[in-house]
Amino acid sequence: MAAINSVADLAIDGEIAVVTIDSPPVNALSQAVRDGLKRGVEAAEANGAVKAVVIICGGRTFIAGADISEFGKPPAAPYLPDVLDRIENASKPVIAAVHGTALGGGFEVALTAHYRIAVPSAKCGLPEIKLGLIPGAGGTQRLPRLVGVEKALDVILSGTPFGAREAKEWGVVDELAEEGNLRESALAFARRLIAEKAPLRKVRDRSDKLEPARGHPEIFEAIRKANARKFRGFEAWEKAIESVKNAVDLPFDEGIVKERQMFMALLQTTQSKAQRHVFFAERQAAKVADIGPDVPTKPIRSVGVIGAGTMGGGIAMNFLSAGIPVTIVETSKEALDRGVSVMRRNYEATAKKGRLTMKEVDERMGRLKPTLDFGALAEADLVIEAVFENMDIKKKVFERLDSIAKPGAILASNTSYLDIDDIASMTKRPEDVLGMHFFSPANVMRLLEIVRGAKTSKSVLATIAALAPKIGKVGVVVGVCHGFVGNRMLAQRQREAMKLILEGATPWAVDRVLTAFGMPMGPFAMSDLAGLDIGWSAETSKRASIRDILCEEGRRGQKTGAGFYDYDEARTPKPSAHVEAIIRDFAKSKGVAQRTIGDAEILERCIYPMINEGAKILEEGKAQRASDIDIVWIYGYGWPVYRGGPMFYADTVGLRNVLAKLKEFQAKFGDDFKPAALLEKLAAEGAAFSKP
Ligand code: 3HC
Ligand code: NAI
Repeated sequence: MAAINSVADLAIDGEIAVVTIDSPPVNALSQAVRDGLKRGVEAAEANGAVKAVVIICGGRTFIAGADISEFGKPPAAPYLPDVLDRIENASKPVIAAVHGTALGGGFEVALTAHYRIAVPSAKCGLPEIKLGLIPGAGGTQRLPRLVGVEKALDVILSGTPFGAREAKEWGVVDELAEEGNLRESALAFARRLIAEKAPLRKVRDRSDKLEPARGHPEIFEAIRKANARKFRGFEAWEKAIESVKNAVDLPFDEGIVKERQMFMALLQTTQSKAQRHVFFAERQAAKVADIGPDVPTKPIRSVGVIGAGTMGGGIAMNFLSAGIPVTIVETSKEALDRGVSVMRRNYEATAKKGRLTMKEVDERMGRLKPTLDFGALAEADLVIEAVFENMDIKKKVFERLDSIAKPGAILASNTSYLDIDDIASMTKRPEDVLGMHFFSPANVMRLLEIVRGAKTSKSVLATIAALAPKIGKVGVVVGVCHGFVGNRMLAQRQREAMKLILEGATPWAVDRVLTAFGMPMGPFAMSDLAGLDIGWSAETSKRASIRDILCEEGRRGQKTGAGFYDYDEARTPKPSAHVEAIIRDFAKSKGVAQRTIGDAEILERCIYPMINEGAKILEEGKAQRASDIDIVWIYGYGWPVYRGGPMFYADTVGLRNVLAKLKEFQAKFGDDFKPAALLEKLAAEGAAFSKP
């Protein structure tokens, strides 16, 4: 075996040259990997004894794509398209041997090989769309030639990988290798190809699978329509459709040039930069500065949940779905039965959509033990409290839990706002206590704020951080403060939204501006959904706010058929002239002069105070990094991923611009807009929240 460079080597096995790429962690197509591939194939060609070439990877995976960390830097030769040309135009058959995940540029490498073999556990895919890109090395031209336009668009627009068995069925992969024995299987396959004098089969030369789409532009129109909602706001998907259409309409050589041009243009977009930022931010968020791999984690084999309400049920489902049994306790049989039936109904709804079998629903529900006996929590490795948001009740629950839970059990609260340290002080083991703040609906939203208390032990924190991905969550470690990261920032937006409607903007205008920005819902639609009466009491209500008046009139949100909006049976929101009148009268009674407020002011007044609060959160060390705050907003509140999160968005606006606007608002509207010291400092330095 001879080294080609630091990440590639070449071995000759009889008549077969084996080019091995080994560039941890995922064999991304860095300059060295590209160089290794090119020189490997060239060396194999130059060797007269060699009759076929196998490309295979060491470590956990075949090439997982372009090196995303190289994007934005000046490109270095050899360029990927040239490397792929070299492979495809080799004079000897090249076989890609795939294990792990052949993604993006990695899959595109495999598509230029003349033959493909994969272990059954391998996956292939083109996830570029998730980075605000389209495949840039032939994916949009070669995949449709192999599997047809519709399947190819499905793969490209979803970005979701498909398994080797499917790949075999679709003709993407020629052979399935023996699991764990890829190299031997690939060599055997190569020997067979040599014996059969197999041709140099190039995907680019095929067109049979494109035929059904020729002269049928309506196929593309239908796909646009079907995806319109999903891709609202995203730029890349239209380019992906266009590029696949080019595969049908243009000769390969033209299609591939256009694909490359679109890819290069998308690379420069703020959207793609934002989505690449999120890719790395998500992986960073899992890391806690003072917790290394040496910190031991505890096994979580069984979980207890206290409270089977909105949150408790959803929280329990996460564990049941991950195969972890859950004991759920309530105070009354009615509440328990109601909670359990909601969970079953949710699973059944998923089954109706075909994403779960009824057998799986039964299996999941079979892992649930509903009970009124608090003592049943004694064996749980982790207990999560999700009772009413009331400190006295929570303290009593934790005091009781302390006397029941086994030593070493982790005790968590799902509180939205309350002080975790206060709650922990009710136990004799505050080191085992932390916050696990799920987001509603808890079985759907991916965010988990992991709230680190003053005394939470490293091992407890490490355990929950490691548990998050196992239950499908993205964990972000945050510090104790009112509302933690997400709700603390949300409060800023809600306050300004309420002020804006008092000053003359309509609730629908505010919602329209924020949904146009890319949020799934505006603040008023969101309040209606949650219920305006959360924390409101009929006894003490004195028409002292717009909310008081709406609640007193029975307009308590979607559940009562009216809130800020009117709702029909299908819960479609309709602006209410009556609510506009209520707001107008209320403003008058408070002496607030109403005026016309433009969309730009609405957006800036809602978003900039959030950014400012984010800066304070960073100053206080309640979040480890700005990108963690971005992850909280993307996975907890549906912040548009193509805007990269609030802190990244601030960087794209320019911190000096954000600061100047905050100062302008401060002069006009007061200290709600007082800039955070960190924002002042970064703006003065010409710096940004996101570290490049
Ligand atoms: N470039 C650079 N770094 C990458 C990378 C890539 N394509 N893919 C993964 N990494 C890094 C991660 O940042 C992480 O680094 P860290 O340990 O320092 O945090 C490390 O590799 C391991 O990644 P994961 O934690 O995600 O490991 P998993 O085993 O959970 O997942 C994976 C592996 C499925 C390969 C996943 O990392 C992934 O989906 N990667 C991105 C794949 C992708 O998007 N490829 C397309 C790139 S665009 C492209 O190819 C353009 C082409 O068309 C020209
Ligand atoms: P909920 O009112 O729907 O459910 C609370 C449940 O706890 C009720 O079923 C009640 O019977 C039960 N309960 C009360 N005291 C109990 C006790 N001593 N033992 C066992 N069960 C008891 O409330 P929800 O919305 O589920 O909220 C629960 C917690 O989750 C709160 O702390 C809340 O702040 C938090 N949270 C709520 C979110 C939401 O959107 N609803 C989002 C994130 C967190």
